[in-house]
Amino acid sequence: MNLFVANWKMNMTRPQARAYALDLGSRIGDEIEGAELVLAPPFTALEAARDPRGRWTLGAQNLSEHHAGAFTGEVSGAMIAEAGCRYVIVGHSERRSLFGEDGPRLSRKLARARESGLVPIYCVGETERERAEGSTAATLARQVETLADDPAAEPLVVAYEPVWAIGTGLAATPSDSASAAAHLRELLSSRAGLRILYGGSVNPGNARDLLTNGGVDGFLVGGASLEAAGFAAIARAG
Ligand code: PGA
Repeated sequence: MNLFVANWKMNMTRPQARAYALDLGSRIGDEIEGAELVLAPPFTALEAARDPRGRWTLGAQNLSEHHAGAFTGEVSGAMIAEAGCRYVIVGHSERRSLFGEDGPRLSRKLARARESGLVPIYCVGETERERAEGSTAATLARQVETLADDPAAEPLVVAYEPVWAIGTGLAATPSDSASAAAHLRELLSSRAGLRILYGGSVNPGNARDLLTNGGVDGFLVGGASLEAAGFAAIARAG
């Protein structure tokens, strides 16, 4: 089953999230066949984004590397799970570049996610410069090393999100996506429950081609997921 994750980033108040959830629900009816949907709102809007009918689940956009204690402003994996989340995004490129999250910290976050029963959506992807230097494969291999201690039998979602494609309107081509996805599947061949997503300027116009020819099991969608209509259209691409 394809997986479609709406990463709202720092957008949506609680009333906006509630209106979105109603809108999305009316657009998808009972369900979208063959598609699993996840909304990843800000922490404050999790409850407002919940579907009482269970047609989508919830994900958080980040979690603390710590268990509990004097870490002002942080939110733990246990709190996120208790708030009704099934997934948590770990290592989004904005967390890596704007908040200095590196491999060791991300591996602690992955461990905290597992302890709380959350399925990580672990993000990887090369910068424009790495791509120009021809080091995309090496970058992905280095970022995948962070998963070394993550239990291989557990379900895992890896999102290939080339940094140059995020929020730029310049999506990767299906062939770029397919070659990165193939490389990731090879690097992670020991993982039984692996799903690979593509993310970076996915929209209703390019979703079908990327899903059919991009070698992935769904998408992590930012900007185009902020309208329920856009997200529903993308999720129907399969
Ligand atoms: P975008 O963001 O769809 O707006 O490019 C994707 C992401 O950052 O997850």
